[in-house]
Amino acid sequence: MSLIEVTGLVKTFERRQAPWGRPRLIRAVDRVSFAIGEGETLGLVGESGSGKTTTVRCLLRLIEPTAGSFLFRGEQVFGLPASRMRALRRDLQMIFQDPDSSLNPRMTAGGIVEEGLVIHGIGSPADRRARVRELFEWVGLDAGMAGRLPHELSGGQRQRVGIARALALAPAVLVADEPVSALDVSIQAQVVNVLMDLQQRLGLTLLLVAHDLRLVRHLCSRIAVMYRGRIVETGRAGAVFHAPAHPYTRALISAMPDPDPGSQPPRIRYDAAGFDPEAELGEVAPGHWAATSAARQ
Ligand SMILES: Nc1ncnc2c1ncn2[C@@H]1O[C@H](COP(=O)(O)OP(=O)(O)O)[C@@H](O)[C@H]1O
Ligand SMILES: [Mg+2]
Repeated sequence: MSLIEVTGLVKTFERRQAPWGRPRLIRAVDRVSFAIGEGETLGLVGESGSGKTTTVRCLLRLIEPTAGSFLFRGEQVFGLPASRMRALRRDLQMIFQDPDSSLNPRMTAGGIVEEGLVIHGIGSPADRRARVRELFEWVGLDAGMAGRLPHELSGGQRQRVGIARALALAPAVLVADEPVSALDVSIQAQVVNVLMDLQQRLGLTLLLVAHDLRLVRHLCSRIAVMYRGRIVETGRAGAVFHAPAHPYTRALISAMPDPDPGSQPPRIRYDAAGFDPEAELGEVAPGHWAATSAARQ
């Protein structure tokens, strides 16, 4: 049994073109299934609007899914009462895209990281201070920053606070939704290194959402590629990067900037008209699945 098993997840939204118009149903997430084992890192990738954030918001029950199942350690999460859900969130922590809007502006950095420990009544004040110091060290923050308010920190430091807060309760799973895309390019690599270091040090189970494939290549053992609410390809990161089977994945990879511009291969475009939302995932190589029509035959 995997730590996380998502099956047939669907989330629809109603969208009205005009206040008097008839609402149209949008399938933001369409029959999405994946599993993550203990200590594994799954990268959920795809262009903006493909349904990545909606997927993770459903898993954390920040919004209610339309259909599907989410087993966490074998327990059905969808439909759990609020009290049980609160307890479970301790083990399922989230790092948000934008540290500016996800940190309480009136709390100090140390207070933000400590808050979960206080809420769950963990340790004495001295224990908690020691834990906060340890977490600061893990994410590469100077202990002297603990007394600062979010606006007195840089964007990269704020995201480190967000990571330390998410780790405070030693969660079983960390869900990170585009954790560096709101940061300056010059500091993205530093925060990525913090995540890599933590992943190795703690053996974290990580669900990493990103539109930037380079981030995923660094951090993830497996990848799931999303397009228009569907997972169109999934497999080990090496296999998906080196032998992409779905034309959308090929286009996505070809759009990655090459560190050596001279060797940049020509960009492949994806023809959206050829997309079949009903195509099922088929195994193209052991453990490597793609929703290509060829795989269906
Ligand atoms: N609250 C909402 N109401 C209506 N449509 C939404 C809502 N949230 C997301 N969507 C739509 O769902 C689709 C997927 O969005 P999202 O999950 O944010 O994609 P991603 O994170 O991959 O960029 C988009 O078409 C988006 O406009
Ligand atoms: Mg998103």
